[in-house]
Amino acid sequence: MKYSRISTLFYLLMMFSDLLAGVNSDSIFMITMGGTKSHTVPFAALSRALVARGHNVTMLSAFPGVAEDAGAEELCPDGLVEYVNDFTKDWDLLGSRMKGDPPISPWKALQYGYQVCEATLSDPLTKHFLHSGRNFDLLLLDGAYSACALGFVHHFSAPYMLINTVGLYLAPLAALGNPEPFAITPFFNSGYTEKMNVMQRMANGAAHIFCRAMHWLLLTFTIQPILNKAFGPSGVPSVLAMQRNASFVLQNGHSSLTYSRAYLPHVAEVACLHCRPPRPLTKVTQRLWLWYPTVACCPCLKQLTTPSPRSCCPYSAITTPMPPKPRLMDTQLS
Ligand SMILES: *[C@@H]1O[C@H](CO)[C@@H](O)[C@H](O)[C@H]1NC(C)=O
Ligand SMILES: *[C@@H]1O[C@H](CO)[C@@H](O)[C@H](O)[C@H]1NC(C)=O
Repeated sequence: MKYSRISTLFYLLMMFSDLLAGVNSDSIFMITMGGTKSHTVPFAALSRALVARGHNVTMLSAFPGVAEDAGAEELCPDGLVEYVNDFTKDWDLLGSRMKGDPPISPWKALQYGYQVCEATLSDPLTKHFLHSGRNFDLLLLDGAYSACALGFVHHFSAPYMLINTVGLYLAPLAALGNPEPFAITPFFNSGYTEKMNVMQRMANGAAHIFCRAMHWLLLTFTIQPILNKAFGPSGVPSVLAMQRNASFVLQNGHSSLTYSRAYLPHVAEVACLHCRPPRPLTKVTQRLWLWYPTVACCPCLKQLTTPSPRSCCPYSAITTPMPPKPRLMDTQLS
């Protein structure tokens, strides 16, 4: 009884302080250097919600228009925009996923890490922004390619949070002390699931170790020198140390979609942060939806009848591979 009265008092005090705090808005700087527009989606959703509550949001990304749509101040340095456009112009992420190939080669992913940093920090707009005497209360970084953005964290000497946009990539969470056992954590760039045999587990572990080694090399020998050069004569603290300093993580995953894991209390799973309430289907979409399985499998029909069917149907990309040569399709084709 006593406890409940104290907690009620506590909540009332909290509400009162929230009301007072509502008067002065905070300035929040969001940074995503991801190479695809999907990285900006959770940022834009969060920005809309923060702006609606009276905060000032500034967003750095390679995609002009996104920040403006989300009510934020836009910062799209030309160098970054052009670099990302160039880098991704012949990409087919979905296609390679369906064929069972890795979406991008490890070498390309590594190159992207430091080239995107160089492109952003050497741009006149970024330099102007850094020297405009702005202050921020909080920085919100993308968990993917966050190392470069840590330079901004140092520059503005503000606390930072992560949105781990690539939900299956758990290394940013592991850097903060969350367990990432290789034996039961499928490597994000592989087709493995939690069900692996001994050999697959070994290969999976090797992939994790290789990725960590590459990450260390990338940060130590490329990102750190770039940041030291860009952020003044005294340089920045060790990027590896700063990576362990995030205050909170919004993890773009959910135990019903990714694997259920126990995280430390500084991680909140926020998958579908950007989702809108559902609306009823129109007549046309209803009809299309009924057609969808046939339409989606059309390009696969030929492949399925060849001796070694590749996993290419949307079903297989999401769950288990399609059984080879389904009877129904055989009869339809003959
Ligand atoms: C937010 O932006 C408005 C308009 O640009 C400005 O007047 C205000 O001072 C800003 N607030 C903070 C906390 O920076
Ligand atoms: C980590 O954060 C704390 C508190 O904000 C700060 O004092 C410390 O310098 C940071 N460490 C690094 C390596 O950035």
